[in-house]
Amino acid sequence: MNIDKKYKKIIEIVKIKLSCSAHNLDHVFRVYNLCLLLAKYENNVDLEILIPSALLHDIARVEESQNETGEIDHAVLGSEMAEDILRGLEYDEEKIKKIKHCIIAHRFRTGNMPNTIEAKILFDSDKLDVIGASGIARTFMLAGQFGQRLSADEPLTDYLKANTVENGRLKEVSKHTPFIEYELKFKKIPDKLYTKKAKEIGKKRLKFMEEYFNKLKLEIEGIE
Ligand SMILES: [Fe+2]
Ligand SMILES: [Fe+2]
Repeated sequence: MNIDKKYKKIIEIVKIKLSCSAHNLDHVFRVYNLCLLLAKYENNVDLEILIPSALLHDIARVEESQNETGEIDHAVLGSEMAEDILRGLEYDEEKIKKIKHCIIAHRFRTGNMPNTIEAKILFDSDKLDVIGASGIARTFMLAGQFGQRLSADEPLTDYLKANTVENGRLKEVSKHTPFIEYELKFKKIPDKLYTKKAKEIGKKRLKFMEEYFNKLKLEIEGIE
């Protein structure tokens, strides 16, 4: 099977797996596009590792969100699911191992740091997608899904005291607001990125986000 046919098959599988989750599927293709962009600025990137990793990185998203125990980590489960898919597409063991590393290391919380250029590019692309214009859109889509408000009345420190943090996550998602996500999560993203180009893009995206949230605050308060 040639490489293009393999990618086609992978895309078909991803579309089926994420068919009930349009925003996750759209996210996968934005991440894929970002990966191709970042790859142009780095040396010795193996696209035969990066492309399947980007397409498969969130393959276990639905399993994680449907599991109520909170024990499923989509990065870990996703790397196992990817292994089966890739083996079925006659990928060799060496490539499967490298792709699995990219998938397992794409998440902040797994404790698996990306240690190849392909894994770093995937990590950076995945994080870049939650900031900037697409980040704003995504945050408000999720806010709608969870019935969140635009902003909380109490100051952030009071809010944090009232909402216990578990594994770096605020417990009650419905009490989250896009402002809190911005303050707690998005602002820190550019510093966590690995590649130079991603840091550059991250700073620009964050600046845009900052302007947006400042403006939104002024409008909420009736100042502008
Ligand atoms: Fe993910
Ligand atoms: Fe992702």
